[in-house]
Amino acid sequence: MQPQKHEVGIPLAPWTYLNAELFELEYESFFLSRWQFVGHINELADEGSFITANVGRTGVFVLRGKDKKLRAFLNVCRHRASRILQGSGECRGVVRCPYHGWTYRLDGTLMAVPQDENFPNLDRDEFGLFEITLENFHGLLFVRVKGDGPSVAEDFAHTGSFFEAYGIHDYVQIMEQSEQVWDVNWKVAWDNYLENYHIPIGHPGLHRLLRENDEWEELPSGTTYGTFELREKPSNNEVERQYQECAHHSNHRVPENLRGKWVQFSFGPGHGIDLYPEMMDVFQLVPLAQEKTLLRTTFLGHRDASPEELELRRLNLAINDSVNAEDELLCARVQQGLKTYAYQPGPLSNQETFIGSFHEIVRNRLPVAGLASAPTLGSVASENNRLTQPS
Ligand code: FES
Ligand SMILES: [Fe+2]
Repeated sequence: MQPQKHEVGIPLAPWTYLNAELFELEYESFFLSRWQFVGHINELADEGSFITANVGRTGVFVLRGKDKKLRAFLNVCRHRASRILQGSGECRGVVRCPYHGWTYRLDGTLMAVPQDENFPNLDRDEFGLFEITLENFHGLLFVRVKGDGPSVAEDFAHTGSFFEAYGIHDYVQIMEQSEQVWDVNWKVAWDNYLENYHIPIGHPGLHRLLRENDEWEELPSGTTYGTFELREKPSNNEVERQYQECAHHSNHRVPENLRGKWVQFSFGPGHGIDLYPEMMDVFQLVPLAQEKTLLRTTFLGHRDASPEELELRRLNLAINDSVNAEDELLCARVQQGLKTYAYQPGPLSNQETFIGSFHEIVRNRLPVAGLASAPTLGSVASENNRLTQPS
């Protein structure tokens, strides 16, 4: 008989959260090769409008062409590697590199090169911007820097109906993105996002406010969702109580079965998508180094929010700010603890099955991550190659 922990999954060994070489493999396998959220289609209404984003060290941008089509490119000039665009805005007719002025059309092809007599053999057709894969999923734009695989819609399968029900295609950004750098490995933050076992102790406020529902699912793609229901018992915390009292002001936004509920998706790994009746957020991990992770959160909602809904959003943000601050501390403690001499992970509970599945995905993609201890310095990639070869 298998021991319990084998049913739920075997957690990754501590070295996998601390190793720079493994981090590089993960960056390529889980971030460059997977869908990354970059923004909402409503930010790109006009010809020439663009948004930029960073996938770790790799800059990307999405641009609307003269033909109205959206395309995504690497944010790097084909001449001497300068970043081309910053922030968001509008290119007037062309994309011009700020360094030497190479000029690209809005479809990414190279149009003009200053003093082109000094490039006697330049074949312009060869030096267009690098185009990458882009998908519009209910108005949410995702890019994939390399490789191929299932579409975002395929990864969400039937749960795409939630996005339809909330009308997310018509949402707009309702405030500045928030960005925080946590001193943790991206997997520590992701593990934490994947389990709700820590809520009663780690997030007492959230626990007072919400009850976890039986409605949850893990799709074959690894995408998961779960639902939470607002408790009827008034919280003794004023912000939480006001939220409970105000929640009905957004009832008309969603079908009856979603009223008073929070729906939480994990997609990725690395993306948390929270659907509330009054707004939504996309929480995104951007890996910076083996012990440094950027957390970027984008807030979207209906453009015609009533004053009551604006208040509801304010309360929601106050509640989630506390949750976030609590999570940062919880994750930092884990990152520190993982360095403890001879520590080996304990068992995962039935409430942590998503972590077990995630760790299995890591081991499947990068078999070296299944080793109990780190390979010798400089050999993580070669050891991974060796373990990947069919025996
Ligand atoms: S680096 Fe862009 S024009 Fe030279
Ligand atoms: Fe948490």
